[in-house]
Amino acid sequence: MRRRLVAGNWKMHGSLAANGALLLDVLDGLPSEAKGECAVCVPFPYLAQARDHLAGTPLAWGAQNLSEHAQGAYTGEVSGAMVAEFGCRYVLVGHSERRALYGETDAVVAAKFMAAQRVGLVPILCIGETLEQRESGVTADVVGGQLDAVLDMAGVEALANAVVAYEPVWAIGTGRTASPEQAQEVHALVRGRVSVRSEAIGAGIRVLYGGSVKPQNAAELFSMPDIDGGLIGGASLAAADFLGIVRAAG
Ligand code: 13P
Repeated sequence: MRRRLVAGNWKMHGSLAANGALLLDVLDGLPSEAKGECAVCVPFPYLAQARDHLAGTPLAWGAQNLSEHAQGAYTGEVSGAMVAEFGCRYVLVGHSERRALYGETDAVVAAKFMAAQRVGLVPILCIGETLEQRESGVTADVVGGQLDAVLDMAGVEALANAVVAYEPVWAIGTGRTASPEQAQEVHALVRGRVSVRSEAIGAGIRVLYGGSVKPQNAAELFSMPDIDGGLIGGASLAAADFLGIVRAAG
């Protein structure tokens, strides 16, 4: 049985004061009987704050990016070891905003995935197609290709300690959620693609859905057999909304 995960991705939002309050509100409202797991991925400067507030609590934390390099002359970059020092469990890798706005290729994303695992972080590998790609019928090729880039470089065993997040680009921040059936179709494809290489790892890997998840649509999405939780953007910035989604995950 896969343990559900609901992870918030704050993106580039907040401040020390606002984020501190948000963390405390989320902690305060976390259902004590929850079987699933819950995490927040915060901007780099707030990792220490997340650690200070969350250490020893059931709420895990993570970063939104890392360098593919271990150290060196890479001004402005942050290494996996630096992120790990702040007690992170997770790190997002290959978010569509990173791919689209910062030119992260499949190869760079795969290198980041491996860099995360080298320092003991669990990568949340984000994949997903654009609207244009969906409308031209190449969703399976795009998503499969993004996944294969990591499988080929890191090997299927690496997926045993990773999470995949399917985030259709057209559903991110648009209010236009994939229908549960649309998401399920891609989630099954992702799991199948891993299962071809290792049935056990395919069966065990958690595949999250991301893209305009709200308390109102979360339960329906999470009821699908291959949807193991969510990666939540906008709704993770309001404690009540995020907690509503956490409760929907059970
Ligand atoms: P929204 O939930 O705001 O659509 O963002 C999804 C996302 O990109 C999470 O990584």
